[in-house]
Amino acid sequence: MSVPLFDPTSPLGPLRAELRSAVHRVLDAGQFILGPEVEAFEREWAAYLGVRQAIGVANGTEAITIALRALGVGPGDEVVVPSFTFWASAEAIPPTGATPVFCDVDPDTMCVTAATVKAALTPRTKAVIAVHLFGNVAPVREIEALGVPVLEDAAQAAGSVSADGRPGALGTIATFSFYPSKNLGAFGDGGAITTDDAALAERVRTLRFHGSADKVDYVDVGYNSRLDELQAAVLRVQLPFLDRWAAARAAAGDRYAAALAGLVTLPQATPGSRPAWHLYVVRHPEPDRLMTALAGQGIGARGYYRTPVHEQPPMAPYAPAYALPGTAEAARTHLAIPMSAALSDAQVDTVVAAIRDADVPAR
Ligand SMILES: Cc1ncc(COP(=O)(O)O)c(C=O)c1O
Repeated sequence: MSVPLFDPTSPLGPLRAELRSAVHRVLDAGQFILGPEVEAFEREWAAYLGVRQAIGVANGTEAITIALRALGVGPGDEVVVPSFTFWASAEAIPPTGATPVFCDVDPDTMCVTAATVKAALTPRTKAVIAVHLFGNVAPVREIEALGVPVLEDAAQAAGSVSADGRPGALGTIATFSFYPSKNLGAFGDGGAITTDDAALAERVRTLRFHGSADKVDYVDVGYNSRLDELQAAVLRVQLPFLDRWAAARAAAGDRYAAALAGLVTLPQATPGSRPAWHLYVVRHPEPDRLMTALAGQGIGARGYYRTPVHEQPPMAPYAPAYALPGTAEAARTHLAIPMSAALSDAQVDTVVAAIRDADVPAR
């Protein structure tokens, strides 16, 4: 049996009729930008997360830039961001005029900690981007206790939970991506910004709409960055299923963890969290050898961030003078193995057997 690395389409099988009628509803309404579907999704997404405000935007990258701008981030400011993350977490900073300052991660959780953030703070730090990487939940409250506002990059963590609440409801402001392969995925690009702060939410609404309320008078130089009606309608059909899908991801992670100890280094959920694993990412001293061996058995596996963001050439102007040992370790050793809301016990067992058969020594 071959097992794909991820499978965003199987969970949608039972929803096809509902998805079709949602698309028809939008066609019939004939309103495609900022209409009733977006408004309803914003309400439903805020209610799901337990946060006061949700604002739909065009994608998870612009969500970060706009959220930073709403926080007042601009030229001369620094924004702390992990280097072990998807490129966009840091790419979204320079368009504000601010400087990315890279911090380390704990390779066991692959998330930032209060200590790694603290080491990167300076008097110019205006915000910290805490990435809930792979669905794990970064310790947002501990970081905000350092006295800096946290922007949660929750692109990979829809459906996860922590003792303090859901990602997206933990920091000053948070951003999501609804890229199709995400835990909650649209049929194209999409994103959202969430916050409890009404004034911040108002600034976000203005910034996503060209810096205007009406496209007649302008209060800011903003963006054209809206979630569209079709994507909102599609997301509304899926949202009631997100918790079920999250539970399936978490359960598949538990099954991996019980069977893979000793064969690979397991990802550790942060204290008090129950990650809806977006990707299940193990560590191994020879991840690419293991990946090749798994490919030979029809098992998808991939190292996503082999070169950390601060070592990518366009980030050279922002490269730190200090070492990031946790980042280096995670970048060198990580390997994503199959994970999806539709991953069956039999598929998990097939992957586990393939890792055992690959016989690439774990140390
Ligand atoms: C951690 C992280 N941040 C930001 C993004 C950017 O989201 P988008 O692709 O919707 O722009 C993604 C995903 O693509 C991501 O995984």
